[in-house]
Amino acid sequence: MNLQKQIYIRKSCRDYLDETIDMDLIHNFMESVNPLIDEINYHYEILTRDEVNVRNRWSAPYYLAVYSEKKENYLMNVGFIFQQLCLYLQSRGIGTCWVGLDVPKNKTSEFVIPISFGRSDDITRELSKFKRKELSEISDFEDEKLIPAQLAPSAINSQPWYFKHVNDGFDVYQVKQNILKRQIIEKLNMIDMGIALAHMYLSNMDTFEFKIKTSFDDLKGYTYIGSIKI
Ligand SMILES: Cc1cc2nc3c(=O)[nH]c(=O)nc-3n(C[C@H](O)[C@H](O)[C@H](O)COP(=O)(O)O)c2cc1C
Repeated sequence: MNLQKQIYIRKSCRDYLDETIDMDLIHNFMESVNPLIDEINYHYEILTRDEVNVRNRWSAPYYLAVYSEKKENYLMNVGFIFQQLCLYLQSRGIGTCWVGLDVPKNKTSEFVIPISFGRSDDITRELSKFKRKELSEISDFEDEKLIPAQLAPSAINSQPWYFKHVNDGFDVYQVKQNILKRQIIEKLNMIDMGIALAHMYLSNMDTFEFKIKTSFDDLKGYTYIGSIKI
């Protein structure tokens, strides 16, 4: 299963066909998915459109509601795990979109975020059509190894990631949002960080390692979130 190549063609899908899907695709994939952090329990639930309060101007036939134990870094872990599923579904002709705005009608306290999904004719695009920051803006120097992270989807396309080269890989930082944006977007940005790390993992599956160091450089305007080896 080559999920890496999906990174270069994926687009968030907002235009779905009303076709049924074999949900075993999802259940089977999720049995072997790799988390970023082992110790955090999570689960998901598949909902239909009428089980969700849709606040976006578009809707999908299905929504996958993500739930997680609220331990440290659970949002990053959710982004990391479920972006792998999004890329897998994309490889099977199923479009997805993370949807921060929508909320299941019956949610429990562990609810994190829904992901819309469904069959669609509009799930891919050419690399030249991605709207993303330059590599030089997301790292201390331009490095093509970071292209998978550069292409990651993020809430309102905010692309909050920054990678600082260190001896054996990268220290990874999240952009600090200003006070006005902080409340709305900081939670979603933690999910974005996990999504970008999933892209780095899928592009370097045999060598990828993630750890949180106790000693790292403070960068003004950024929060350190962890370090990767690729
Ligand atoms: C955590 C998260 C939340 C998002 N929430 C919404 C949403 O509520 N509505 C929507 O239309 N798109 C949403 N998106 C999709 C982003 O707008 C999209 O990823 C970004 O604009 C980049 O476009 P692309 O994914 O097609 O490359 C969300 C994406 C992420 C990662």
